[in-house]
Amino acid sequence: MTRHLITSAIPYINGIKHLGNLVGSQLPADLFARYQRARGNEVLFLCSTDEHGTPAELAAAKANKPVAEYCAEMWDVQAKIAEGFGLSFDHFGRSSSDENKALTQHFAGVLADQGLIREVNETQMFSHEDGRFLPDRYIEGTCPNCGFDSARGDQCDNCTKQLDPVDLINPHSTISGSTDLEMRNTKHLYLCQSQLKEKLENWIDTREGWPVLTTSIAKKWLNDGDGLQDRGITRDLDWGVPVMRGDQPWPGMEGKVFYVWFDAPIEYIACSQEWVGAGKGSDWERWWRTDKGADDVTYTQFMGKDNVPFHTLSFPATILGSAEPWKLVDFIKSFNYLNYDGGQFSTSRGRGVFMDQALEILPADYWRWWLLSNVPETSDSEFTWENFQTGVNKDLADVLGNFISRITKFCRGKFGEAVPEGGAFGEQETALIADLTTKIRAYEGHMEDKEVRKAAQELRGIWVAGNEYLQAAAPWSTFKTDPAQAAAQVRLGLNLIRLYAVLSAPFMPSTSANMLASMQTDDDSWPDNVSDALSALPEGHAFTVPDVLFAKITDDQREDWQERFAGTRD
Ligand code: 2FM
Ligand code: ZN
Repeated sequence: MTRHLITSAIPYINGIKHLGNLVGSQLPADLFARYQRARGNEVLFLCSTDEHGTPAELAAAKANKPVAEYCAEMWDVQAKIAEGFGLSFDHFGRSSSDENKALTQHFAGVLADQGLIREVNETQMFSHEDGRFLPDRYIEGTCPNCGFDSARGDQCDNCTKQLDPVDLINPHSTISGSTDLEMRNTKHLYLCQSQLKEKLENWIDTREGWPVLTTSIAKKWLNDGDGLQDRGITRDLDWGVPVMRGDQPWPGMEGKVFYVWFDAPIEYIACSQEWVGAGKGSDWERWWRTDKGADDVTYTQFMGKDNVPFHTLSFPATILGSAEPWKLVDFIKSFNYLNYDGGQFSTSRGRGVFMDQALEILPADYWRWWLLSNVPETSDSEFTWENFQTGVNKDLADVLGNFISRITKFCRGKFGEAVPEGGAFGEQETALIADLTTKIRAYEGHMEDKEVRKAAQELRGIWVAGNEYLQAAAPWSTFKTDPAQAAAQVRLGLNLIRLYAVLSAPFMPSTSANMLASMQTDDDSWPDNVSDALSALPEGHAFTVPDVLFAKITDDQREDWQERFAGTRD
């Protein structure tokens, strides 16, 4: 038995995530976690909400709520939606937890002890009326380049020019609208990543079999030098982890917090402490401390490509720089972007389908299957309502759903609702078992390798093989001349349903549970031996014909949804 620590990039707290976010981290992480559990391995699968920083403050202000209250409410919303999608986190934590606070302060303290933190004097825009420094996104004014009157302090959305807040004409605070702003001196802590360049380079160079997307982004940042400049890890904000050196005050840093990208990945560790705190586990150190048994752990992270620099360089810099025996990631699975109907999904512009909306119109497994089988693995991919309709109708309704419905209904009609007795497997069945064995071993290989699309394709092939068998064996014809042989064919078909339920569970957990329920079994053992697996439901075993597992998406529905989701949500 191996031990798998699995984390998904933690979603920002500010609002409900869209399907592009889901498919780029949480969903493939869930697929892998469910697969490893199904293989009998020990899994700790963690995710949390990323609660600190400017976006959370802005969203809370917009909702007219104190930020802590806003985050608590949104955590609830995100947790419920995650459950709706069948995301099987062992714990869904919060980066604003006490555990993360203490651990973040601990890391800052040990990094300082290692001589890896320095203080830097900067100037930054201060708003008298708001009584605070304003991060770039809180400042707007007229763009000096194009004259657009709502350019942000970091960039003009109209002409895309990168800006500095001092470049703006008539700058004002987006919080109060005040123009009473001045540039003021402020002091920040910098993590000396540049000192860790060689260590990080060696570490990345010795990673084997990492996806090209992951290593190419890491190397680009390493070699450009940009990614390894020392970076500011503190901010002049109210909401965040207060800057402390371990449990001691940090002179000169009063009222400041750590930068959200410093504390967010530390939450991966803190989440395991929250998991223990919630009474779900008893020992987090055996997952995270190499001096406490974590050497045996295989740690896999899932994320979108925009997160790769933080996970290949910044977070490892925190870990390596600490010189403490923390577990480093073994494999980083990263994804490209899923686009929406000819453009981008966008949270800020409310463009695309959001997780709550998706669940309102169809059960989670329709989405899980389509998203995972079209995951943007080697390049960006595109969600269109046509693709979605075709994928669901073909794979789920025509292939899998149809197989289950045909065999169960035929059996009920001719033999009753129990696995029929008599007859024996012949050449056709032996050939099918050989074919399935090859395909299932390939499926396992792709799942181990986290090759999500290939795994989906193989699974589809496994379903197709059953359909082809049924078509060729044609028990409805056999029955007329040799009912015993037809009984054996149907017996195999019913056992295939159980086998498909087990193999498909990581992709479609609730459909798989329905399939097992209608086969009246809780035997979800993995088919190490396909021949044995296909006799798990013995002669005489009762079953029920399931309700339609997958309804086809009609053209009317497609058009209706296409129109409904064409605009932006408020
Ligand atoms: O891009 C995002 O959604 C970030 N909230 C991911 C953070 S992952 C991690 F480092 F915690
Ligand atoms: Zn501009």
